[in-house]
Amino acid sequence: ADDGYRLWLKYDRVADASLRAQYQASAQFIVAEGQDVVLRTAAAELQRGLQGLLDQSVPVLNQAEKNSTKRGIILRIDPTANVSAQTNTANVSGKKKTNSASAAKGSPEGFQIATQGGNLVVSGRSGAALLYGVFALLRQLQTRQPLANLALTSSPRIQYRLLNHWDNPNGTVERGYAGSSIWKWQELPERIDPRYEDYARANASIGINGVVLNNVNASARYLTPEYLRKVAAVAGVLRPYGIRVYLSVLWAAPKVIGGLTTSDPLNPQVQQWWAHRTDEIYKTIPDFGGFLVKANSEGEPGPQDYGRNHADGANMLARALGQHDGAVMWRAFVYQAGSGDRFKQAYEEFQPLDGKFAPKVLVQVKNGPIDFQAREPFHPLFGAMPRTPLMLEVQLTQEYLGFATHLVYLGPLIKECLMADTYAKGPGSTVAKVVDGSLENHAVSGIAGVANIGADRNWTGHPVGQANWYAFGRLAWDHTLSPAAIAEEWTRMTLTQEPAAVRSITQVLNESRSIYVRYTTPLGLHHIMGQNLHYGPEPWLTKSARPDWTAIYYHRADSVGLGFDRTAMGSNALALYAPALRQRWGSPATCPPDFLLWFHHLPWGQKLSTGRPLWDELCTRYYTGADSVLWMQRQWAAVQPAVDAELHADVAARLQVQHREALWWRDACVLYFQTFSRRPIPAPFPKPI
Ligand code: GCU
Repeated sequence: ADDGYRLWLKYDRVADASLRAQYQASAQFIVAEGQDVVLRTAAAELQRGLQGLLDQSVPVLNQAEKNSTKRGIILRIDPTANVSAQTNTANVSGKKKTNSASAAKGSPEGFQIATQGGNLVVSGRSGAALLYGVFALLRQLQTRQPLANLALTSSPRIQYRLLNHWDNPNGTVERGYAGSSIWKWQELPERIDPRYEDYARANASIGINGVVLNNVNASARYLTPEYLRKVAAVAGVLRPYGIRVYLSVLWAAPKVIGGLTTSDPLNPQVQQWWAHRTDEIYKTIPDFGGFLVKANSEGEPGPQDYGRNHADGANMLARALGQHDGAVMWRAFVYQAGSGDRFKQAYEEFQPLDGKFAPKVLVQVKNGPIDFQAREPFHPLFGAMPRTPLMLEVQLTQEYLGFATHLVYLGPLIKECLMADTYAKGPGSTVAKVVDGSLENHAVSGIAGVANIGADRNWTGHPVGQANWYAFGRLAWDHTLSPAAIAEEWTRMTLTQEPAAVRSITQVLNESRSIYVRYTTPLGLHHIMGQNLHYGPEPWLTKSARPDWTAIYYHRADSVGLGFDRTAMGSNALALYAPALRQRWGSPATCPPDFLLWFHHLPWGQKLSTGRPLWDELCTRYYTGADSVLWMQRQWAAVQPAVDAELHADVAARLQVQHREALWWRDACVLYFQTFSRRPIPAPFPKPI
């Protein structure tokens, strides 16, 4: 039985004997020259993969030992290689694509696979490039693509591709639904859990090159010598996989562990403290990646405690990094009670600071303006801070998307944000171009996914949660990939090769996010979930420590209608967007139904572009959304013969819970909103899906 531990790195024997023979003929040896540690990892991974997939042991040789009558795979670090961000992803996008204007041009991580003199040559400027090339090559085999005349060039479009762990020193994971943390701090540095290496392999296989080990609501402990030794031990496992470690820092650390009376960024002693700490970190971890900071947000300390701003704080840390090769990732997730529409607050605090950040600073912005809701418009900061590299932060752990119970594939959500047009420099100024740095020619670029990983045997709790980890890495590497193609690739590598089953499962994945939106927050409803836990519906929530944590603050249901008016007549958050968007989203007639209630308070009887009045459309979406979970169940039932029995039963059972909870959402929301609309539930509903 498949316990899910191996993720998508299943190197099971290729069943088709003639295809296997073809592969075997092209892979009779591996040549890997040099001692670069990541290159050695690449060679070992290739050997391991071929051993499993081809059921043949393939020797790793030096150039001199190579037998010229045989065909094999040569891994070659070529210092002159200049692999720009063009991708021939024949198996993913179906056609050759060229994009020369990427910031990742000539990336040291880019690789090329070419057929030369009968051998397959994988080349790139660094060991990491070769490791990515090897995983791409193995992926060809895992998805049963031909190797003959293989020509593949690929380079990451985004430089910093990070997972953010929200893991605490005591082993809990904030918003984690897959068990406790995989980091066993009390055992480190002496005991290295073998799982760390499997984690590194999985990340490297999808191009992730950095991990923030601890929660943004940070403990100062990680900066102590005791913990730095532990962090260094983890870094030692990740380094051979081309992965650097980063830490979230507590702003008040100089006070909490440094014995100072302040953490004012303009105080010389505070500056010295950070500079000294940073030097100590680099002594322990020479390739340390840098700091992630949540400051003056949700009660966390920050520079504003001393009348300073975010740039003062970020720049002080950038100075502390000095000559070290590290970055400061400063989060823009800030909002305060009672200061107007929460939608606008990060923009108001950060946009005026554009141009004030030091070169080592990236500002990390969540995909949407509120907080990882099932569907949000893109964050208005994208496109509004041209002089600052902006990182995109997405959440892989499903805090607002049904935890590890609901099957929700996030590829479409991430892609929707990346493809959103900010119009910052005219049409085509997508969030992707802001984030990869190509729109403003930034030297650095980054993307972060809040990890959904825990100590559960299958890593992510829900087996399909693995697809979200996978899709994040693939899109971080190349945002032009299609989420549907990534879903198919993941399915084939992880679940089954059987074509009809691959099709059915891929369909379920692709539809799953929009189904979830329909039975929870259709038409642009948001933030109506259960308090604190963030699970299940609680649209009636009127009392909380703060008004902007209640549901009624967001849905604004009354006898007239539903939705948050963010036009000029309301909070005017729409004014934060480019004129083209202001115009499109500003009128209910042209605003896409999916975003309607984000921006408008509409009468219950208002006729929508779908032809139905608002109330009827709302009910239709809740009902068809919930019914579509039955469709997901049927699709899943049909693939039973093609999928591992244990895994199949697990997902099938979760889909039953999901349906029960979809009905819960539907009934809770429809019946609650009906107390305002006072209209009957229209029936019958159109066929789901
Ligand atoms: C959400 C989440 C918190 C988290 C915060 C953040 O609000 O509920 O647990 O700390 O995001 O991103 O900082």
